[in-house]
Amino acid sequence: MNYQQILHDAMEAARPVLGHGRVADYIPALAAVDPQAFGMALATNDGEFYGVGDHDTPFSIQSVSKLFTLALALPEGGVGLWKRVGREPSGNPFNSLIQLETEHGIPRNPFINAGAIVVTDVLHSLTGDASGAVRDFLRAESGNPLIDTDPEVAASESEHGLRNAALANFIASFGNLENPVETVLEHYYAHCALRASCRDLALAGGFLARHGLRADGTRLLTRSDAKRVNAVMLTCGTYDAAGDFAYRVGLPGKSGVGGAILAIIPGVGTLCAWSPGLDTAGNSVGAAVALDHFTTATGCSVF
Ligand code: DON
Repeated sequence: MNYQQILHDAMEAARPVLGHGRVADYIPALAAVDPQAFGMALATNDGEFYGVGDHDTPFSIQSVSKLFTLALALPEGGVGLWKRVGREPSGNPFNSLIQLETEHGIPRNPFINAGAIVVTDVLHSLTGDASGAVRDFLRAESGNPLIDTDPEVAASESEHGLRNAALANFIASFGNLENPVETVLEHYYAHCALRASCRDLALAGGFLARHGLRADGTRLLTRSDAKRVNAVMLTCGTYDAAGDFAYRVGLPGKSGVGGAILAIIPGVGTLCAWSPGLDTAGNSVGAAVALDHFTTATGCSVF
């Protein structure tokens, strides 16, 4: 398979929609990004790497970080974690508060903001430094020591974070946070504000394509847990558009409002596409088109 050519074709397929959608501006520091940017990378389990466009340009990974917080919070905390957060699609926007009241402060899944706040709390209790644990994992898996939190984006999230603060306080009122609300939010913003490229994220997500094995061959997740994380990505990773994403792309995917979507081809490799324009669900328009093209052209899909 000529992956380099297929990535190139995927970029061309996305070109007509670049600039479509809206760049996230509810976090003002994110609004400065070039809406025409596009990058895509494929890292295979055989150790091959392919990239096109701005695949080496760092961007704000935002909710893609939630995938890594979940994976890092699972090995020791898995049993407790699934008592505190569900694994059903919410059918609501990623920042919705609506289900929390009737569902007793247990968020529907780990990828909506409410769920990721709880997972950040679990990881913070486990490690004492939730955002540092995510940063160090990304650095180790990608081999890029420059990956770090963008302090301007983190401060902007905090300053404009009334909704996340409401979610965290509401969850805490049900007793579903162990650490102080301010600490959990600080670490949540810090891991969302990590900057990494398509290349970095494709490499860092490799453990999910390798059934739980890290880049150095050590095991992060059991084979079952890797399967489970991929399943939750498929059903919840792109929020209330997860059905449409599964229909079009046919792979587990995790999006972020920075414009990235990281997709896993279990047993084969990982794909990351980035384009800042978002649809109304907060998923990148261009990245979804490019991923759709890739899976259609290659037949690489979980279906
Ligand atoms: O908390 C927030 O709203 C952002 N830090 C992350 C949201 C996000 O990336 C949703 N994904 N598409």
